[in-house]
Amino acid sequence: MFDIIAKKRDGGALSVEEISFFVKGYTNGEIPDYQAAALLMAIYLNGMNDEEISVLTKEMAQSGDTADMSGIDGLTVDKHSTGGVGDKTTLIVVPIVAALGGKVAKMSGRGLGHTGGTVDKLESIPGFRTELSPEEFFENVNTIGASMIGQSGNLAPADKKLYALRDVTATVSCIPLIASSIMSKKLASGSDCIVLDVKAGSGAFMKTVEDAERLAVRMVNIGKAAGRKVSAVITNMDIPLGYAVGNSLEVCEAVKILKGEQKGDLYEVSVELAANMLMLTTDKPLEECRSEVKEVIGNGKAFEKLKEIVTAQGGDTSVLDDTELFGKAKYFFEIKAWRSGYISKLDSEKIGISSVILGAGREKKGDPIDHSAGIVLRKKPGDSVNEDDVLAVLFTCDESRIFEAEKVFRSAVEISEEKPGEETLIYKVIV
Ligand code: URA
Repeated sequence: MFDIIAKKRDGGALSVEEISFFVKGYTNGEIPDYQAAALLMAIYLNGMNDEEISVLTKEMAQSGDTADMSGIDGLTVDKHSTGGVGDKTTLIVVPIVAALGGKVAKMSGRGLGHTGGTVDKLESIPGFRTELSPEEFFENVNTIGASMIGQSGNLAPADKKLYALRDVTATVSCIPLIASSIMSKKLASGSDCIVLDVKAGSGAFMKTVEDAERLAVRMVNIGKAAGRKVSAVITNMDIPLGYAVGNSLEVCEAVKILKGEQKGDLYEVSVELAANMLMLTTDKPLEECRSEVKEVIGNGKAFEKLKEIVTAQGGDTSVLDDTELFGKAKYFFEIKAWRSGYISKLDSEKIGISSVILGAGREKKGDPIDHSAGIVLRKKPGDSVNEDDVLAVLFTCDESRIFEAEKVFRSAVEISEEKPGEETLIYKVIV
C-alpha cells in the first residue's frame, strides 16, 4: 500500500492489480483508514486517467453483492444526484415515476460534506426504515413500484467505506472519485435505466458547467459500457434548490411539490428528472413524459404514491398529511435584510455549510444528525427586499451553534441595487 500511495503521489497511473489490491484490502479491513485517506488525497491532487477510473468503478461495483433485478417485471429505473444543497428531488421523482407505472429501485446515500443525503432526509420521517432485506426491497418495487433504501446490505461496500472517509478528509470534489462512487453503486444495484442529476455551481462538487459536463460524460460512458440506458441532466447548483435546506424541512417541501402547492426551480428540475426517467423506460417522447409527470402531481397520485412507499417502509404518514406534526427544532432565529434592494447572490455552498453547523449534517464520520435543523429561505435571487425583511429562518436544537451559522449565512448573501438576470436551471442533457 505504501508503494501504491507513493506512485499516485508522484503522478503515476495505477495498474489494474494495484487498484484491485487497494479496493479489496480497504473493503476487508486490511488497509487502515490512514493509508486509504492518503491515497484518496493523492488521487484528488493528481487525478486518474479514463482506464484507471473504469477499473476503480468496476472493482468497487464488484466489492460486494450485485443485485439481481430479474425478479422485477419490466425495466427498472434509478436516479442519482452528484450532491447539492436543498436537493430533495429524489423524494419527489421516485413517487412520480412509480405513480406512472415505472419500477424505481432507489439506493441512496447520506449527507456528504456540505450537501444533504436522501437517507438522512427519509430518516426524519418517524419509523421509516431505510434498511430492508433484498426480498422486501424487490417485493416493494414489484407491488408499489418503488422502494428507497440506504446503501445497506453488501452492495458496493467499498464505496460505503470510501464515501464516509472522503466526507471527513476533504476528498469529495474529485471527478474520478465521484464517478467511481456513483457508478459503482449504480452498476451493483442493477437498474436497467439510470438518470444522473449532475450539479454545477458553488454548492456542487463541480463548480463549473464544464467540469460537470466532464463528470457527466465519464459517468454516462461507464454506464453505457455496462449495457445500461443512461442520461445525465446538468442542473444549476449556484443557489440552493427550493427553499428548505435540512432534513425534515426538505421532506416538508417535497410534500408541498407533490401536493401541487409549490412551483419554481424545485418543481421544474423535478419534472425534468422524472420525465427523463420515464423517457428511458418507456421510449416515449420527452414532451409527452413531461405532461404525464405534471398530470400525476396535479391529480394527487404522486403524493398518494409517496404515502404508499412510506407506509411499506414502516414510516408514519401522518407527518406527510400534516407536516406541522414533524418534530420541531428547539430554537429558531430570523435573519433580516440589512438594506433594501434585490437578492443578487445566495451562495449555496455557504448555505450548506451553515446548515451543517446548525446540526443538519455531519462534521465528523458517524456524527449524529439533528433532523429538525436547517434553514428555510424566504427570499431567493431576483426577489426584491426591504430593509428588515426576513431573508431566512435558521433552526437548531443547539443554541450555541446559531452565532457561527448566522455568520456563514450572511456571507452567502448579496443584496444589490439592480435586479440580477434570470439563472439558467437546466444547462444540458447528455444521453
Ligand atoms: N454522490 C455519491 O454517491 N458519491 C459521490 O462521490 C458524490 C455524490
